[in-house]
Order: sequence, then C-alpha cells, then structure tokens
Amino acid sequence: MNAPLYRIPGGASAPEPQQAQPANEAVAPAQDAPRTVGDVLRQTDVERVLDDLDRELVGLAPVKARLRDIAALLVIDRLRMNLGLAAQNPSLHMSFTGNPGTGKTTVALRMAEILHRLGYVRKGHLVAVTRDDLVGQYIGHTAPKTKEVLKKAMGGVLFIDEAYYLYRPENERDYGQEAIEILLQVMENQRDDLVVILAGYKDRMDTFFRSNPGMSSRIAHHLDFPDYAPDELLTIAGKMLDAQNYRFADGAADAFAGYLARRVQQPHFANARSVRNAIDRARLRQASRLFVDRDRELTREDLTTIAAEDILSSRVFQTN
Ligand SMILES: Nc1ncnc2c1ncn2[C@@H]1O[C@H](COP(=O)(O)OP(=O)(O)OP(=O)(O)O)[C@@H](O)[C@H]1O
Ligand SMILES: [Mg+2]
Repeated sequence: MNAPLYRIPGGASAPEPQQAQPANEAVAPAQDAPRTVGDVLRQTDVERVLDDLDRELVGLAPVKARLRDIAALLVIDRLRMNLGLAAQNPSLHMSFTGNPGTGKTTVALRMAEILHRLGYVRKGHLVAVTRDDLVGQYIGHTAPKTKEVLKKAMGGVLFIDEAYYLYRPENERDYGQEAIEILLQVMENQRDDLVVILAGYKDRMDTFFRSNPGMSSRIAHHLDFPDYAPDELLTIAGKMLDAQNYRFADGAADAFAGYLARRVQQPHFANARSVRNAIDRARLRQASRLFVDRDRELTREDLTTIAAEDILSSRVFQTN
C-alpha cells in the first residue's frame, strides 16, 4: 500500500501582507531593506520580546541562551534574504524536556511570538494538545483528528505535551503510530509554516526518541528545563505577588521559604506551578483573616499584605 501523502491546508484564509517571504525564494535585493542586526531587531521588536523574557522569567539561563541563538539564526537569515541570498528555512522543531511547572508552556508561547515576529510562521499562535486530541478511539478516527489539529496549528506552533504517550509499543495496533506518521510528514514538508514542540519528562522523551528515530531526526533543538533552585522559587513567588499587587509582610518571605523546603519533599511538587498554587491559597487565607472583622476599615496595606500566618497555617506545616 502506498503511504498517503499528507498536506495540511494553511489555517489562515488570506496571506497577511506584513509577513516575510519564504526564505527559499531568491528575491531581488530590496533597496531599503534592513542591513544590520539592529535594524531587524528594531523593526520586528524581537529585542523587546527577548528582554521581557530575560526579565520576567526567573532562572532558565540555558533556555534563554538557546532562544537567543535561534533568534540570531533567524535574524541573520533575514539579512541574507535581503541581499538575495537563497537559503532553506532552517528546521525549528524542538523538544522541551523537564519536570512539571518548569516553564515549558510559558517559554513555548514566547517562542511562538519570536518566530512570528521574525517572519518564520505567519500567525504565531500556539495550539497545545495531548495524545487524546490527536489519536482516536476507533479505526479511521485518528487521521482526521490529527489533521484537524495540524490545520489549526498551521502558521504557528503545535505544542504536544507528554508526546511520548503517542507511542505505545506494548499495543501493536495502537493508533498513536498513525498520528506519529502524519506528524512526521507534515514536520518535513510544511516546516516553513509550522513548528512542532514535543514536551515532557526527560527520561520518557529520551526513550521515545530512541524508539522513534524518524521523530528524533526531525528535532533540531533539544531544550532542557532544569528544576528551580529554592532561591529561584522564592524569587518567582515575589514576582507573582508583585504582578497581583501583593507583598510579603516581615517574616512572610521566611515562612514561604520554610513552606517550599517542606513542599519540595512531598509528592506532586511542580516547581513554579506549585508556587502559584501556594500563593493562591495564601491569598484565600489572607482574605478569610480579613473577612472576620466586619467593622474594621481595611487599608491599602491590609489588603496587599500576605502575613506570615497566612503561610504558616498551610497544611504543609502540620504534617510531621
Ligand atoms: N522562570 C519562571 N519565572 C516566573 N514564572 C514562571 C517561571 N516558570 C514558570 N513560571 C510560572 O509557573 C507556572 C507554570 O509554568 P508552565 O505552565 O510554563 O510550566 P510547564 O513546564 O508547562 O508545566 P506543566 O508541565 O505542568 O505543563 C506559570 O504560571 C508560569 O507563569
Ligand atoms: Mg505546560
């Protein structure tokens, strides 16, 4: 049987005029096209996106460095194109490995924005899916499901969380294989308008790539997201509070450090996501604390302060 050839129609109804042309079309050098890295960064506003990323995301130094490398490649490609130098669009499919809550989805969103600003993809949106969005329950259901998702993602980034669940070697007739095959074709043939990011735990992803060399060979960039160090988690907490107009009272930051030291030992610890959840619960406790006093006028100070007791009454401190 001949393998069907999959080509997914573009998601956009009409091409957007502002976008860069595909790099593989040799174009005549434009007169007023940018000639310096600075020109391209200013015109596309990519410098700002990279600076925001540096400032807003705590830690992740290796990830940030890789993002800059990728941006550099695309900027230089842009300048080459402006001088009429033909080049193939580089393959930019990636894997993001790391534990839960290490910032994979957050970075993928920023990556999509950078790719869009540099004209690599038309729309720059992110479609996040898992196995269930791609693979059907019955024969004949998988191809339409996968193609529908690819169609939605065209012009942007397809983010497949826990991608290794697509491959189930223990089940010979698993439909996941069908989804993988369609993905492989589209990743090869339509890579100038779709970037696929496979995300998940590092060890499982390594196993997945070993069993799926076709997939492995199409991934150009492997980014590893390390767990956050305790001081990074505390800094993340501070940023999250700040963004919501809260602050720690004297002693509350220490209490939160104590909270984190215990929480990381417990099951289901999920890095920055656990920090976010802990802060949400601290806000609840602050609200309950303020709620009981019906007649007190609440100042700005009262309303914005998370007290040590709002942290210390967490269940995490009650066990052992
Ligand atoms: N380096 C960071 N600095 C500040 N906030 C962060 C950082 N990393 C993650 N966060 C925040 O933590 C939360 C979880 O991050 P995100 O969803 O990106 O993680 P993830 O790796 O995709 O997790 P999961 O595997 O659970 O999907 C988000 O609210 C995000 O804003
Ligand atoms: Mg995520």
